Amino acid sequence: MKRAVSGVQPTGSVHLGNYLGAIKNWVALQDTYETLFIIVDLHAITLPHDTQQLRKSTRDTAALYLACGVDISKASVFVQSHVRAHSELMFLLCSSTPIGWLQKMTQFKEKSRKEGGENASVSLLTYPVLMAADIVLYQTDFVPVGEDQKQHLELARDLAQRVNNLYGGRKWKKLGGRGGSIFKIPEPLIPQVGARVMSLTDGLSKMSKSAPSDQSRINLLDSKDLIADKIKRCKTDSFAGLEFDNAERPECNNLLSVYQIVSGKTKEEVMEECKDMSWGTFKPLLADALIEHLNPIQIRYQEITEDRAYLNKVLSEGADRATEIADATLHNLHQAMGFYMRD
Ligand code: TYM
Repeated sequence: MKRAVSGVQPTGSVHLGNYLGAIKNWVALQDTYETLFIIVDLHAITLPHDTQQLRKSTRDTAALYLACGVDISKASVFVQSHVRAHSELMFLLCSSTPIGWLQKMTQFKEKSRKEGGENASVSLLTYPVLMAADIVLYQTDFVPVGEDQKQHLELARDLAQRVNNLYGGRKWKKLGGRGGSIFKIPEPLIPQVGARVMSLTDGLSKMSKSAPSDQSRINLLDSKDLIADKIKRCKTDSFAGLEFDNAERPECNNLLSVYQIVSGKTKEEVMEECKDMSWGTFKPLLADALIEHLNPIQIRYQEITEDRAYLNKVLSEGADRATEIADATLHNLHQAMGFYMRD
């Protein structure tokens, strides 16, 4: 069975961008692929973090995966730091990663600038290597992510290929290995709609956890009133009618796309329904559709967080399954890299 792997960082609250760009699509893949969904807590320490908050966000993010429909009879859900192979593989991969590949990453350049350049941590630089490790450890075929992860995915593919070339094939066979490729080369799965949900206060910036204003995003756990208020106050324009794909109307395209997904309608249906609407008519329609879509998730989330033992059991079983696959990959790489193997 082919495998799909993905993850969300437990930093702050999970928002509509994370949901529409990633988690909602994970749920659709569970029947077709073996899926592993990770709460990537090691990634969350690449920027200065609040220790109490990290622990809470890790638990909350796990509960939200399940509330959004990740089904543990089909998928494995686990915390990255519970599977030690992630950190270890990252170190091994670092030795095959040219520094230049990491220095040119867009997210590294943006985040390190915010951290004051030279003060940014080494782990911010090696962040994409850790992400590559998360993926290649599981011999992953597909990685369902939003558009902002495209560059990281490219790096993961290049790195997997490089390690295969450096250590795989005949050289590995001579060391007693199976030969051939050590890692599968993963493919990104980026949705047609929802791959880049934009901020509610600026249609040219993506919705993000780190934006200072909470008005700029819908968090999955926002109350009905808060959702209605955020939509009521979100940025719009003064054109007549509503339309998709007009570069001069990024907010309009974004809000219609969000409506399209949460209402379950096609683009044509949304165009037909909304083309003559004013913002005053459309905004309550969007707010209601969002509330209706998120309400069942919020109810399930409450139920799941009330049963801590259940959540811990899910995470523990998920980590066991992940460790089983990860250790096999790590064993192969150790062998292929020429480490003296323990009996
Ligand atoms: P993170 O935590 O920033 O985001 C989690 C997922 O949400 C998607 N996303 C969005 N999609 C659409 N519109 C948005 N505004 C938006 N904001 C975020 C992201 O594309 C992502 O799919 N490096 C990753 C986490 C990671 C990972 C992995 C992912 C670590 N290891 C292995 C896949 C496989 C990140 O920071 O995602």
